[in-house]
Amino acid sequence: MSIYLDNAATSYPKPREVADAVYNFMVNNGTSSGRGSYQKAMESDFLIYNTRKEIASLFNFNDPKKVIFTSNITEALNMAIKGILKRGDHVITSSLEHNAVWRCLKTLEKEINISITKIDANKEGYTNIKDIEENIKDNTSLIVFTQASNVLGTIQPIKDIGAIARRYKIPFLVDAAQSAGVLPIDVKEDNIDILAFTGHKSLLGPMGTGGLLINCEYNIEPLKVGGTGGDSAYEYQPNYYPNKLETGTLNVSGIIGLGEAVKFIKNKGIINIHNKEKELVRYALDKLKSVNNIQIYGPQDSDKIVSVISFNIKNTMAEEIAYTLDNKYNIMVRAGLHCAPSAHDLIGTKDIGTLRIGIGYFNEREDIDILVRALNEIQI
Ligand SMILES: Cc1ncc(COP(=O)(O)O)c(C=O)c1O
Repeated sequence: MSIYLDNAATSYPKPREVADAVYNFMVNNGTSSGRGSYQKAMESDFLIYNTRKEIASLFNFNDPKKVIFTSNITEALNMAIKGILKRGDHVITSSLEHNAVWRCLKTLEKEINISITKIDANKEGYTNIKDIEENIKDNTSLIVFTQASNVLGTIQPIKDIGAIARRYKIPFLVDAAQSAGVLPIDVKEDNIDILAFTGHKSLLGPMGTGGLLINCEYNIEPLKVGGTGGDSAYEYQPNYYPNKLETGTLNVSGIIGLGEAVKFIKNKGIINIHNKEKELVRYALDKLKSVNNIQIYGPQDSDKIVSVISFNIKNTMAEEIAYTLDNKYNIMVRAGLHCAPSAHDLIGTKDIGTLRIGIGYFNEREDIDILVRALNEIQI
């Protein structure tokens, strides 16, 4: 038996309905969407539109046309950041960002001379919203924050940050990679202008899916231009959504699978999913504390984090433990910096990284028990 505890990287297993939907589409339809006018292509259009509607309603958004599909959240974040920022602009971000945001900003700093203010979170991994307001400048053109850290799990005060952004009329972009599908998100209530999501983590959909929800009128220049299936004689990118930002053949089978995943989440109830994961996190924190020589990072409070726990075992390299867990115990966890180097500055682990478990909806207490037993045995 193998135990998968790397759901923060990608969720596994997926609901059966998701795999079935992908398979059925590939075997029984297989046509592109937004391209043909024959019946199967129309069906494909309909299924894609249904996923736009499912995604929109999950986040309490009422304009499915402004749900833009991309291949993952990295592409979605690049699209929003590069589509908004211009030469000489200023951007405010957090010290918990994944490289999907951070490398994008650093590249623009080099290429078009943007300036970046990184707001340091405290040692527990929380941002003080006062620091954001104090750093707003005349040329601040974007605030981009991850909703939940992929190293510490800490949940940021998105609604309050969004309120500040609204007051200063600055676009507010949220990286919901670790939160969408497990934390209830309401783009209106939470003052989110642009929500970036990835389909394959807590949304339980296939890899190769993700996107943006554009809850604002700020202009976003397209990241790519090309065929959209319509307006073909027009020589420029159309200026209406979703075609303005969605170019090239979509991952139709993946998006249909994502639609089924969102239905699965709605049927289970996102609160029930969140509660189950929260209970597993509480259980895991409690059990992990008993492991010899363990140092757990972050607030160690299941109400304050998503299902991500980082830790180290004193005097043993994280990679070594992850290797033994995999090879001797069939337990899959992640070791390293998790593509978020500045989060490690906060907890002093930039040189050594951490072991990270990402608990998912399909994990059970027994998985944690087996992990804890293995961690103790490894040290004997
Ligand atoms: C907070 C955060 N942002 C962005 C990403 C990138 O996700 P993807 O590889 O799906 O683009 C991840 C994935 O680990 C993440 O945890």
